[in-house]
Amino acid sequence: MRDAHHDLRTVTLHNGVRMPTLAFGTAFGDWVGATAFQGFLPEQAWRAVDLALDNGYRAFDCAHAYGTERMVGTLLGQRFASGALTREAVFITTKLAHPAAPPHLNVSHKRTWDADRVEDIAQRVRDDMVDSLDDLGLGYVDLLLVHWPGSFSAPPGGDPEVSRRARATIWRAFCALADKGAARAIGVSNFTIDHLRQLITDVPEPAYRPAVNQVEIHPYCRDPELEAFCRAQGIVVTAYAPFASGAFELLRDPVLVAIAGRHGKSPGQVVLRWHLQRGRTALPKTSRAERMVENQAIHDFVLDAEEIRAIDALGAGVARRTCPDPYTIV
Ligand SMILES: NC(=O)c1ccc[n+]([C@@H]2O[C@H](COP(=O)([O-])OP(=O)(O)OC[C@H]3O[C@@H](n4cnc5c(N)ncnc54)[C@H](OP(=O)(O)O)[C@@H]3O)[C@@H](O)[C@H]2O)c1
Repeated sequence: MRDAHHDLRTVTLHNGVRMPTLAFGTAFGDWVGATAFQGFLPEQAWRAVDLALDNGYRAFDCAHAYGTERMVGTLLGQRFASGALTREAVFITTKLAHPAAPPHLNVSHKRTWDADRVEDIAQRVRDDMVDSLDDLGLGYVDLLLVHWPGSFSAPPGGDPEVSRRARATIWRAFCALADKGAARAIGVSNFTIDHLRQLITDVPEPAYRPAVNQVEIHPYCRDPELEAFCRAQGIVVTAYAPFASGAFELLRDPVLVAIAGRHGKSPGQVVLRWHLQRGRTALPKTSRAERMVENQAIHDFVLDAEEIRAIDALGAGVARRTCPDPYTIV
């Protein structure tokens, strides 16, 4: 565990870029089956991202597939225009290379693709990057991530060798974008140890090591082995769906409620503090202004080792995921 007194507001990536430990999530919609419509609802971003900016968020986790880069770009642009914000004051992440979505999800085929079906993968990455930057109204992003390691259709579809070559090709295209300054740092998302090992073998230059691996982690879904591997490789781990996307009644878990009561904090604040003290960064998302404030007010208390262990223990056994299992992707 990191020293609890260590500054937990930023982390330094292996290339020296400083990244805020909390970024506002910009994936709106339902993919956990809580409503009849399952897919992205980008219209919800207008109000939420506006409120998040008003409430002090300066880091945003975007993706080409979410359909919300235009909203983030427009709302940032208004503040750039008024002089309220400068480009350097914000940290913008986006992700490319989202595979075709599972059939029940309504996601545009123009925003998703399977690498094994794309003839010129590098060109597709460059084209999507232009679209993302256009929508964001930015010349560069602070962090660019490979959204998923491969197609959701495997197994049994998908050839492991083709998937591996596709990942390396996407990654080389990312390295070229970083070299040109279009991304200050590059990383991956939903990569397992095997995916990372292959990538590091295929693109061995230390400067091109992924800076970040963004994966699903919350108290009901942990992967200590993957985290240890990333730490050993100098790869920062970011927890997506840090509250399990509102599923599983996570924030009503009696263990979290009890710890929260002891500190006079909310279960959400305890979960975010746990992520940060475990050395991760996290991407909380909320539509409510009061929770935007609450989710940032996590620097005035410290969880002790026993509390950290008690929260860790909630995730023992089979991971309860809100997104597809990356271990099923070849
Ligand atoms: N790389 C990937 O493949 C991937 C996949 C999934 C997500 N992500 C990223 O991770 C971000 C966050 O994940 P997510 O959007 O799925 O969900 P999340 O942040 O885990 O959870 C959001 C849910 O928690 C509730 N909530 C937020 N703060 C709360 C608090 N303090 N107390 C009680 N409830 C609270 C929200 O409800 P209210 O809105 O009502 O407050 C909402 O229902 C995404 O937006 C996206 O940027 C990445």
